[in-house]
Amino acid sequence: MSIASLPDFPWDSLAQAKATASAHPGGVVDLSVGTPVDPTPEPVQQALRDAADAPGYPQVWGTPDLREAVAAWFAARRHATGVDPDGVLPTIGSKEFVAWLPTLLGLGAGDVVGIPRIAYPTYDVGARLAGATPVASDSTLTFGPMPPKLLWLNTPGNPDGRVLPIEHLAKVVAWAREHDVVVASDECYAELDWRDDAEGPTTPSILDDRVCGGDHSGLLAVYSLSKQSNLAGYRAAFAAGDPRLVDRLVQVRKHAGMIVPWPIQRALIAGLTAHDAVAAQKRVYVARRTSLRAALEGAGWRIDSSEAGLYLWATQDRPCRDSIQGLAERGILAAPGDFYGAAGEQHVRIALTATDERIAAAVQRLSVG
Ligand SMILES: Cc1ncc(COP(=O)(O)O)c(C=O)c1O
Repeated sequence: MSIASLPDFPWDSLAQAKATASAHPGGVVDLSVGTPVDPTPEPVQQALRDAADAPGYPQVWGTPDLREAVAAWFAARRHATGVDPDGVLPTIGSKEFVAWLPTLLGLGAGDVVGIPRIAYPTYDVGARLAGATPVASDSTLTFGPMPPKLLWLNTPGNPDGRVLPIEHLAKVVAWAREHDVVVASDECYAELDWRDDAEGPTTPSILDDRVCGGDHSGLLAVYSLSKQSNLAGYRAAFAAGDPRLVDRLVQVRKHAGMIVPWPIQRALIAGLTAHDAVAAQKRVYVARRTSLRAALEGAGWRIDSSEAGLYLWATQDRPCRDSIQGLAERGILAAPGDFYGAAGEQHVRIALTATDERIAAAVQRLSVG
């Protein structure tokens, strides 16, 4: 891999729109990134403070009580009863894991990594860092006789908020087992499910008993507390699933010093058990989402997918850069859909991660002619 094979950092191309939006007399409403703005729950902050005395090196694999807390969370929230604590790995945020998983699995030139057609850019970056070839597709049929070594799923999806149903996940798992493919499912928005007819308290997981029959071999679910608990600044996340795969990853991560700091491991446990805080945060997003969605639809936009997660995947059925310019003139900054692949060319991604005051300003601006 050479640095030159990495894509340009896409946000640089938003500079002009940002300048336009920032010139609005009421100030910019920045809905272009999914960075939480509400406070980190108090029990999580307290756990971090309580763990401030940390003279020794932490465990790469996480402390046993952290691994047990993750397994218990899967049983309580994800309909996945058999998660083995030995199959749990804390990660330094999930972006780190997404970017390095192909490398940690030993993939390289000639290996294919399957990624979603409309996707968070780091799946592609991770394949490139390993020297492997990213192939964007939402259908396993695309791979024909040359299956990928690793297939990334992302449910709920960023940017489009699409939720993969149980039956779809089960089909992918059956296909992956037949072709010896590792499936990594990035589920970091799972708690933020807006569907009325949901199958459980969260969106379905790849480790859901109804998806994999309790057999986690070849499977990894990737989760982060950044979004559900407003602690993106902590870098607190984990992967869970096949203990043999996790063991391989731990061996490499030990050599590479990829260790979640001990105070963050303690905060992670607190975040996983602070269910009331997650429910309260969800109510805040419901209110923001409802008003923003109504304002966009009232202004002639169509919202596609967006069944879960922190974004509205919105279109005016015209090139996304024209829509971005139109929003910027109203002082609103959003992310163009082409950041996420050519299939996003007519959409923009509008984040719910702004204060109530800024969301109200966006709603007001959208409703004025
Ligand atoms: C789909 C997806 N995966 C992973 C991440 C990374 O989250 P973090 O590194 O904060 O855990 C993000 C962040 O926006 C995301 O949208």
